[in-house]
Amino acid sequence: MKLWAGRFQKETNTLVNDFNASINFDARLYKQDIAGSIAHATMLGQQGIISQEDAEAIINGLKEILSEIEGGGVEFSLENEDIHMNIETILTQRIGAAGKRLHTGRSRNDQVAVDFRLFVKEEIPVIIAQILELEKVLIKKAEANTTTVMPGYTHLQRAQPTTFGHYMMAYANMLRRDITRFEDCLERLDECPLGAGALATSTYPVDRTLTSSLLGFRKPSENSLDAVSDRDYAIEFLSACSLLMMHLSRFSEEIILWCSWEFKFLDLDDAYSTGSSIMPQKKNPDVAELVRGKTGRVYGDLVSLLTVMKGLPLAYNKDMQEDKEPVFDAIDTVEMCVPVFAAMLDTLTVRPRDMSRAAARGFINATDCADYLTKKGMPFREAYMIVGRLVNMCIKTDETLETLTLRDFRAISELFDSDIYEALELRRCVHERKVLGGPSAEDVKRQIEYIRQFVAERE
Ligand code: ARG
Repeated sequence: MKLWAGRFQKETNTLVNDFNASINFDARLYKQDIAGSIAHATMLGQQGIISQEDAEAIINGLKEILSEIEGGGVEFSLENEDIHMNIETILTQRIGAAGKRLHTGRSRNDQVAVDFRLFVKEEIPVIIAQILELEKVLIKKAEANTTTVMPGYTHLQRAQPTTFGHYMMAYANMLRRDITRFEDCLERLDECPLGAGALATSTYPVDRTLTSSLLGFRKPSENSLDAVSDRDYAIEFLSACSLLMMHLSRFSEEIILWCSWEFKFLDLDDAYSTGSSIMPQKKNPDVAELVRGKTGRVYGDLVSLLTVMKGLPLAYNKDMQEDKEPVFDAIDTVEMCVPVFAAMLDTLTVRPRDMSRAAARGFINATDCADYLTKKGMPFREAYMIVGRLVNMCIKTDETLETLTLRDFRAISELFDSDIYEALELRRCVHERKVLGGPSAEDVKRQIEYIRQFVAERE
């Protein structure tokens, strides 16, 4: 018989039974559900709302059920709809009358709210720890490549020289922001909804501060109506996951491009690439492609929950049962992607010669050429025009700026001297960009220290 059968004269239609049930996915909340119930029963006992003996019987019964679930010895039933009613039913079967007192002053609405919050709260540090490991790989790659010159791009057109180390630190900073986003989410999430009841608390002397601290929350949530209606934290979490995945996806896209023979800046380790069933020469960047692909599903998780919530009146609506699968899916996806991505990055080989070969074509020192003239007194706009003409000339004759003769240079401006060749040297172009945040080895080392410090503060 259903826990709520009292008001009904008919059995639930079997289709509705299956349709309504969430046990197939919310069984994943068993640990949090039991923790929430133990805190609630402890409080009921301490406040004299139920007897101490009943509270103890409930707590011991729940602990037993927990270890049996962990040992794989408990079967949940669809008939009992969700994890909350499954556990309560099992408890009552075992300890009898005391079990029936557990739900005093509580509703499934605050129960599910506390379970789900606890769940997300426990996963955030797992994800942060994974991103920190990835940061360490980025630091390692950056340190090894502070002078590895490569072209930087805009519009995917060769633009200005940078280094692979500088590039790695760009991603390190995106991930730094991701970590702080998860931390912010954790901070706002850290309020306990338990005791909110269905929506309006209860007339029992429920001590919400006690249950909140028993469960390790910072404080009880301020308003009971908000407490049971709020899924902001799950949406914020999914949005932090989406941004993280967007960063990994952009990085994946670059790795995919750079592994192609058109670039060949990188070579993936054999253990992190796959072959083709027909083309014997193929070595495919499947890991990076899957990370890019899975980003779409995490965005889907975010949009799905945003859409579920957008039209809901306060307080609980059954629509909200749809909050769990997207969050579980995002957690599984992110927790699978980050470590495999880190390992792929850690094991790949950088090909400095191919990077500098690409850097040598494409006039990425054209800005430096204009700056050369500007430093000799010519207004930048004028210098820009002159170098544009030089580039055009080079394209026609299949040359680069460095291969022009001094006579070619001087024909266009008397300000050019033999030191122009030094000014065009790519290593120098990078080295001279000593501005804060720039690609000079000196500043990239500073950037590395900054991230290293950020990581150390969290370990
Ligand atoms: N299984 C439900 C969910 O996940 C639990 C809350 C049910 N509350 C209710 N009033 N029907 O949302």
